[in-house]
Amino acid sequence: MNARVAVVGSGYVGTVVAACLASIGREVVGVEADEAKLAQLSAGESPFFEPGLDQLLAAAHQSGRLRFTRDIADAVDSSEVVFLCVGTPPGANGHADMSAVRSAAASIGRALRTPHVLVTKSTVPIGSGHWLASVVEAAYDGPQPIDELLAIASCPEFLREGNAIEDFLHPDRIVVGSDTPAAIDKVFAVYRPIIEQDFDGGDPDRCPAAVRTTLLTAETVKYASNAFLATKISFANEIAQICELVGADASDVMATIGLDSRIGPRFLDAGVGWGGSCFGKDLLELISTAHDFDHVPTLLQAVVDVNNYQRRSVIERLHRHLKTLAGKRICLLGLAFKPGTDDLRDAPAVAIAAALLAAGAVVTAHDPMILSVRDLPELQIEVDPLAAAKRADAVVLLTEWPAYLALAPEALAFAMRGRLIIDGRNALDGDDYRRSGFTYEGIGRAVSR
Ligand code: UGA
Repeated sequence: MNARVAVVGSGYVGTVVAACLASIGREVVGVEADEAKLAQLSAGESPFFEPGLDQLLAAAHQSGRLRFTRDIADAVDSSEVVFLCVGTPPGANGHADMSAVRSAAASIGRALRTPHVLVTKSTVPIGSGHWLASVVEAAYDGPQPIDELLAIASCPEFLREGNAIEDFLHPDRIVVGSDTPAAIDKVFAVYRPIIEQDFDGGDPDRCPAAVRTTLLTAETVKYASNAFLATKISFANEIAQICELVGADASDVMATIGLDSRIGPRFLDAGVGWGGSCFGKDLLELISTAHDFDHVPTLLQAVVDVNNYQRRSVIERLHRHLKTLAGKRICLLGLAFKPGTDDLRDAPAVAIAAALLAAGAVVTAHDPMILSVRDLPELQIEVDPLAAAKRADAVVLLTEWPAYLALAPEALAFAMRGRLIIDGRNALDGDDYRRSGFTYEGIGRAVSR
C-alpha cells in the first residue's frame, strides 16, 4: 500500500517528516499557513537551516511526490493518514499551548469525508489523543458516523536538530500508539521502508524496533525519553560539581562510567547544561502533569534545578576571577543551543549573555550561524571569533562549534587583554591554553589532566 500522507504544520519536525516520507516513496502533501514559507517550500527550499534538508526537499519537489498547500481541506482530501506537526510552545501553568493543534484538528474535522488516521507527531501533553478526537468530532458535520472515519494515533518523533534526516531515516525505534489496532497498521505501512530499511540508502543491519502500544503509552514515551536524556546530562553536571570540589576530572569519570553497558557513554557530557526547544519545555509539561495529579516529581524538578545552576555557575566563575563584572569585556563563543543549528530557543548562551549584560558587562559574541539576537540588542555579535575576543577580559566557550576547537590559544591571547578562558563544554585542550599563559577552567575538570 502506498498510503497518501498529509503533514499539517511545516515547522522543523513537519518539514523533515514531509521531505523524508516523500524520499521513501510516499505521496505527501504538506500544509503551511504562512505565505512566505509556503512559497519557499513550494520551490523546494527549506525555510530554516538543517543539514541536507534543502537537497532532500529539492529532490522530493522534482520527483513530484511532495507538494505544499495552505488549505487543510485540500490536504485531508488528498490523504488517508494525517500527521499533525504544528507547534506546541510552552503555555500558561507549565502546560503546552494547544491552540494551533486545536485549530488544525477543527479544520480536519470540517474537511473529513473519508476514513483517516490522525497521527500526532508534535509533542503533545499526555491525554491529547483522546482530547483531539473530541475536537475533530465537534467540528465534523458529515453524514457518516464519525467512528467510521476517524482513528487517532500517536507516533512521537525523536529526531535531533542538526541530525534530523539521519535520525528520521535510521531511528532506533518507531513507536505507534493507538486504541484502534488497524490505525497502528496503517501508520506502520507508511513507515514500512524505514522499518525494513529497504529504501535507497537504508541499512538492513540497523532495522529499528517497531513498537505497538496504546495512545497514552506512546504519548508518555516521548516525555519519558526527553526527561531521561536531560536527567543523564544533569547527573553528569551534578557529578562534575562534586569533581570540582574533590579535584577529580568529570570528563574521565563520565567516559569511564559510560564503559558499563548498563550506563552507556552518550549524553553524559558535563557543561553549561542542556537547552533547545524540547528538553526544558517537555520537562515542564511532565512536571505540570504530575502536579495535576498532586504528585511531586522530585527527581524531574532536580534535573531542572541542576541545569539552571550550570548556567548561573558561569557567572559565579567570572565573578570569582574578575570580581566586579561592570565594564568588563566578556566574549562568548557560540550562541546556538548546540552546534549544527542556528536555534537559539532556551540556549544557555542567551541566558548567560542576558545575565552578564544585566551585571553591566560589555558582552561580545560569535556564532557561525547567528548574526543577531532579537531580545538582546546590546549583545555585540562579530563575524569572526578573534574579532569578538578583541580586548576581552575573559572568553567563555558555550557552543562547541568545530571552528573554536581549532583556534590557536596564542591567537586568542594576542586579541584579548585578559587571560581567562572558561570552557563551558569541556571541548578545549586545557593544557594547551595553560601553556599559552591562560587561566583555563572547564566544568568539573581537574586543574591539570
Ligand atoms: C532532543 C532529543 O535528543 C531528541 O531525541 C528529541 O526528538 C528532541 O529533543 C525533541 O523532543 O524534539 P535536540 O533538542 O535537537 O533533541 O538536541 P540534543 O542533541 O538532544 O541536545 C539537547 C541539549 O543537550 C543541547 O543543548 C546539548 O548541548 C545538551 N547536551 C547534550 C549536553 O549538555 N550534554 C550532552 O552530553 C548531550
